[in-house]
Amino acid sequence: MNKSVLMVGSGAYLPEKILTNDDLATFVDTDDGWIKQRTGIAQRHIVADGELTSDLAYNAAINALENANMTADDIDVIVLATTTPDDTFPATAAQVQNRLGAYNAFAFDVQAVCAGFVYALTVAESLLLANKGRRALVIGAESFSKLLDWEDRTTCVLFGDGAGAVILEASDDAQNYGILSSALYTDGRHRDILYVDGGPSKTGSVGHVRMKGQDVFRHAVEKLASSMYAVIEQAGVSETEIDWLIPHQANLRIIDGMQKKLGLPADRVVRTVSEHANTSAASIPLALNQAVSDGRVKSGHLLAFEAIGGGLSWGAALVRYGRP
Ligand code: COA
Repeated sequence: MNKSVLMVGSGAYLPEKILTNDDLATFVDTDDGWIKQRTGIAQRHIVADGELTSDLAYNAAINALENANMTADDIDVIVLATTTPDDTFPATAAQVQNRLGAYNAFAFDVQAVCAGFVYALTVAESLLLANKGRRALVIGAESFSKLLDWEDRTTCVLFGDGAGAVILEASDDAQNYGILSSALYTDGRHRDILYVDGGPSKTGSVGHVRMKGQDVFRHAVEKLASSMYAVIEQAGVSETEIDWLIPHQANLRIIDGMQKKLGLPADRVVRTVSEHANTSAASIPLALNQAVSDGRVKSGHLLAFEAIGGGLSWGAALVRYGRP
């Protein structure tokens, strides 16, 4: 029998502090109307002083373990997607492993910026399929506010902080549940349209996000659509079978553009960008957990994930949620 990888639980955590568009407008030349109209964002959560990416990731992981009725001992692999690690090294995943006491697990970070969750999911799936463990904790966690130039209104209004997590479990009897297909892509030629102007080997500093927004927008719709078509074809399903599109939450116009391209009804899309803004690698698992918690996503539903970010790196995955 073929081995497959189920998605059996989710969790999330958001820092308490909320920054509304009106709050932003007190120190940047922007306004609530512009931000909402161009992006759909109304507010974002921001880490408190001393609150680290590992704190967000740990809380999301605890929430996911509770929701899946598991303990840290049950986890064999931890893959944490982040662009904002606590330290240059060790991996933030190792800090999370220690706080959880998940000493049966090996743990490492994956860096694919806003596509990080789709990358981490695929990496974790591959490890479970290669018998490197039975259960994986996949986390997307970001303190993206730490990378923002708060004087640059073209970027600082777009991002927020948070974490989401899922638990994967290898199964020999998945009955068409679990990760049905995934596809990853990178095109480093477009590095200069979305990057951070710092780093250990270049400047020795962390740096700030720099972006050519319109160029990113143009690539996003085209590349997300082609990656969705690739995973739909790979899984042998039709787009009309998708119960929920759970996209990376960067911009409402990109999300709605994808919904229309796929021909999905508007109420089959999970949208959290208005409350969370763009939380990079955390945005998909945060959105997923919201829809699981409020009862929209149920076991057996076909979920479509897609994301694009700096690199450019992008990808998509189709998952039938829960256990057969
Ligand atoms: N508040 C008010 N005005 C702003 C502003 C802000 N926060 N940011 C930019 N503007 C101004 C610009 O200066 C420009 O003014 P000008 O016409 O006088 O020069 C005007 O608004 C239009 O700017 P433009 O960049 O053309 O707007 P846009 O419609 O392309 O929207 C983005 C900008 C960033 C919202 C949009 O391009 C986008 O969402 N791109 C994708 C970005 C993304 O998703 N990145 C993350 C991928 S992981």
